[in-house]
Amino acid sequence: MASSNTSITDLRVEGFSCPLGLTESRPRLSWRLDTARPGARQVAYRVLASSSPDGFDVPELWDSGRVESNQTAFIEYGGAPLYSRERVYWRVEVEDETGATTPSQTSWFETGLLQKSDWSAKFISAPIAGGPITVPPVPRLNRAFSLNKPVKSARIYASALGVYQLELNGARVGDQELAPGWTDYEQSLRFQTFDVTGQLQRGDNALHALLGDGWAVGHIGWKNRQNYHDRPALLCQLEIEFEDGSRETIVSDEQWTSSLGPLLGSDMMMGESHNALLPWREVGGVEVEELPGDLKLRASIAPPVRVTEELAALSVHAGGNAGGFGDCWVFDLGQNMVGRVRLNFARVPQASAPSEETSLPEGSELPEAAALSEPLETGTTFRLRFAETLEGGPNATEGHIYTTNLRAARQTDAYTHDGKAASWEPVFTFHGFRYVEVAGWPGKTAPPLDFVTGVVLGTDQERSGDFECSDPLINQLQKNIDWGWRGNSLDIPTDCPQRDERLGWTGDAQVFCETSLWNRDARGFWVEWARQVRDAQVSTGGIPCTVPAPAIGQLAAPEHRNSWSDGGPAWADAVLICPWTVYRATGDKRVLEENYDVFARFFAYLQSTARDNLRCFDGCDYFSGFGDWLALDGSGRTEGGTPTELIGTAFYAHAADLMSQIAGVLGKTGEAQKYAASFDAIRKSFCARFITPDGRLSPPFQTPYLLALEFNLVPDELRPKLALELVGEIKARGQKLSTGFVGSPYINGVLTREGHLDTAYTLLHQKAWPSWLYAVTQGATTIWERWDGWTTEKGFQDAGMNSFNHYAYGAVGAWLYSQVAGIALDPQTPGYSRFVLAPKPGGQLTFAKAHLDTLHGRIESEWHLEDDKFNYRFVVPANTSAKVELPDGTSFEAVAGVVEGSVWLS
Ligand code: BGC
Repeated sequence: MASSNTSITDLRVEGFSCPLGLTESRPRLSWRLDTARPGARQVAYRVLASSSPDGFDVPELWDSGRVESNQTAFIEYGGAPLYSRERVYWRVEVEDETGATTPSQTSWFETGLLQKSDWSAKFISAPIAGGPITVPPVPRLNRAFSLNKPVKSARIYASALGVYQLELNGARVGDQELAPGWTDYEQSLRFQTFDVTGQLQRGDNALHALLGDGWAVGHIGWKNRQNYHDRPALLCQLEIEFEDGSRETIVSDEQWTSSLGPLLGSDMMMGESHNALLPWREVGGVEVEELPGDLKLRASIAPPVRVTEELAALSVHAGGNAGGFGDCWVFDLGQNMVGRVRLNFARVPQASAPSEETSLPEGSELPEAAALSEPLETGTTFRLRFAETLEGGPNATEGHIYTTNLRAARQTDAYTHDGKAASWEPVFTFHGFRYVEVAGWPGKTAPPLDFVTGVVLGTDQERSGDFECSDPLINQLQKNIDWGWRGNSLDIPTDCPQRDERLGWTGDAQVFCETSLWNRDARGFWVEWARQVRDAQVSTGGIPCTVPAPAIGQLAAPEHRNSWSDGGPAWADAVLICPWTVYRATGDKRVLEENYDVFARFFAYLQSTARDNLRCFDGCDYFSGFGDWLALDGSGRTEGGTPTELIGTAFYAHAADLMSQIAGVLGKTGEAQKYAASFDAIRKSFCARFITPDGRLSPPFQTPYLLALEFNLVPDELRPKLALELVGEIKARGQKLSTGFVGSPYINGVLTREGHLDTAYTLLHQKAWPSWLYAVTQGATTIWERWDGWTTEKGFQDAGMNSFNHYAYGAVGAWLYSQVAGIALDPQTPGYSRFVLAPKPGGQLTFAKAHLDTLHGRIESEWHLEDDKFNYRFVVPANTSAKVELPDGTSFEAVAGVVEGSVWLS
C-alpha cells in the first residue's frame, strides 16, 4: 500500500532524466522520496527493468529484489551487460519507515553506440582549409536521400573534429551548442545522439551539417589555428528503423556534397562573419577519412552546452566613430555574460515588403524607439564588437568600449542583411561581454533597445542552491559568483571567457570546484572533466597546467620540464582535489574509483620529484608553480611572496592526506595506511623547514598560515598561536586579505574554524581593495581576475592580464553557504544523507538564508536576528538527518521535517 502523500520522483540515470545515447557500461540510477512526513525514510527498494514500458509483471531485464537500504542514488543497473542502442524501461518501488510501499512512474534510458565497430560512418570534410591564422568560410555538408516506408524510429549519432550543427528537412536537430565540445581529440571524441523520428518524411529528405572550426581547428589560447586538425570534419550516422522491421543506415561518406554560402568565417576567439545575401552553393564532394583506430568515442557524462537564458539590453548610447566603421551604438546588457547576441530585424522597418517570417504578430506595433526614418536596406552591414567594460571603467555609463584586455581575441562579428531575415545570430562563436558595440546602424537616432538580445551560452547545469542575506552588496557578490561560473563552465572549466586564453587552467578549477557545486548541479561536469584530466596526464604521472592540454603530444616526454608537463602545486593538484570535492558533495564514489590509477601515478610523480619530503625547492629541475598567483601581499610579484617550496610541500602533504582518505573510502586499507604515513613524514619535514624554533611561520604572509592550518600541517598545540598571528597579519594590513588564488579560498574557513569568525566577517564586509566587495562597489557583475582589476586610484590594471570574468576569487561562496547560512557536510558522510546545520551569525548581518538541492531533496537554512534573539528555520529532506548546532552552543539531532524556533544569544 502506498503511504499517504508520498511519491517517488525525479528518476534519473547518471544525473539525466531519460537520457538518450548513454555510453556508461554500468549506469547508475537515482530517485527521490518526496514527502512532507516528518522522519520519512526509505527502508528498502526494489528496481525493476524491462525492455517494454508495460513489461513489469515479469521484468525480463532486471529485478533487483528487495534490497534493504536507504540508498536512493548511484544504484548500479544490475541487468545483463548493455548492448548498443538498447532501450531500458525502469521503475522503483520504495518501502518506507511506515511499512508502506510506493511505486514510481516508469522511466527509461537508452544506450548509444558502445563499440567502435558500431560506427560505419567516416570523417568527412569540405575541400577547403584555412591557414595557421586565416579563417576560411564555414562549409555545409549535404546528403539527400529518399524514404519510401513509414519510419518507426530514427537516431542520429554524430560528432565532429570542430563543432557542428545538423539540420534535417529544414529544422534544426537538437538544441546543443558547440557540440561535441573540447576533448584531447587525439585520444577521445564525444558523440551526441538525437531522436529524429519525427523529423523524417516519406519521399525526399535533406540532411545538412554546418561545420565550424571550434577548438579542434580554430584559435585556442594565444596560439594560432589548426592545433589538432587543419579543417573540421563531420562524423554522422543516421539509423532508421521502419515499421516493417527493416533498417537503413545513412552515414557520412563519399556520397555527401559540400557547399559554401553565407558563413564567411567563424572562430571562437575572432568572431563570425555572415553575409545573408550569399546563397549556399554546392562546391563539390567531400574528403573522406577513416576513423583513427585508437580514437575513443563516447558520450559525455555532463549536460550539453545550450542557450540557458536571454538578456534584454538595459540601455544604448552613442559610441562615437567605430574605427573607420562609422558611428556606432553601444548596448549595455547589464550583465557580464558569455555567449552571443541576436539582432532582431523584425523590430525595425524593412526595405522590401516583409516576408512571412519577418512580419510581426498581428496587433503588434513597432516600438517608438525604432525611429529609423529610412527602412533597413538590403545589404546593410553591421559590425559588432564586444567588451566587458567601457573605457571609463566599470562604473562608466557612456563612451567607447574597452577592448585592450582582450589581447588578440578580436571577438568581432559581422552581418550583412538580406532585407528579409527576421533575426540573426552567429552559430559557432562565443564572446565574453556586457557591452555590444553596433556599427552600421543607418539611422541618426538610437536603435530600439530590443534590436539586440543577449543569448547566454554555457554547460546547462541546473541551479542547485542559492544564498541571500541582509547585505545587498553580499547578495550581488553571490550573483557574481554564479555568473562567473556560468560563463566559465562552457564545456570545460576555463579561467576566463573573453581574451585569447579561455583555457582549462587546473588551478582555477580546483580553487572554485567546491563553490560551483553549491550553486549548480555540476557533478556531471566535473566527472567529465576528470576524464579529460586522465587523458592529459603525461607519461611521468604529472598533470599539465591546463586540461585539455592543447600541445600535450609534444610535451609528454619527461625532458619537457615545463608547466604543461607539470602544472605545479595547486594547479596539478586539481587531479585529486576536484574528484575528492565531488565525492564529498555528492557521494559519487565512482569518480574516485575510475581515476584511482591516475591519482596514484600523480602521487608517485610527486614523490619521485621531492627531496627530503620537500617539493619545488630552489634549484629543482621541474616547474615549481605559479606561486600564490596574483596575491597582493606586498612582494610586488605576480606569484606573490609565499615561496614555491612552501606551497609545493604543503600541497604535497595535502595530496598524501587525500590519497589516504580516498584509499580508505575505496576500502584499500593498506594503501590508506601507506599514504597516511607519507602525510605524517611530509608534515614533519614541512614543520622542520618552515616553522622557526620560536613557533613562527616563515615568511609571515597570510597564505603560509592558511595552508599550514587548512591542510593540518602543524601540531595541534601550535594552531591557536598561528591563528592569532594570522589575525594580527590581517589587522596590520588594515583588516584586509593579501592572498592570491592559492590562499584566498581558505581564509574565511580557517578563521572561522580557529575561532576568529569576527575577522572572517570583517574581511567579508571590507569594501576597500583587496576584498571581495570592492569590485561589487564598482558595479561588477562577475568576479574579477584581480583584486585591483580597476581601481579609482589607478584605473585599469595591466591590460596584458586583466579579465573581469574569472571565477577563482568567487571561491568564498562555499563559506557563505556552509558557515554564514550554516549548511555543512557531516565530516564522516558524503552527499548530505546526513549533514550539519550550524549557522554562524556575525558581522553586520541580521539575516541569512540558503538552500541546497541535494540528491535527497532540498535542505533549507534561514536565520533572522531580532536584537539578541536568533530565529531559526530549517528543512531536513526526507531520508536524511542532521545534527543542528546553534550559535548559543546548544545542539540536537533532527530527522526529516521542517523546524522553526528561537534561542537567545547573550
Ligand atoms: C590564467 C590564470 C591561470 C594562470 C596561471 C593565467 O593566464 O588566466 O587564471 O591560472 O595564468 O598562472
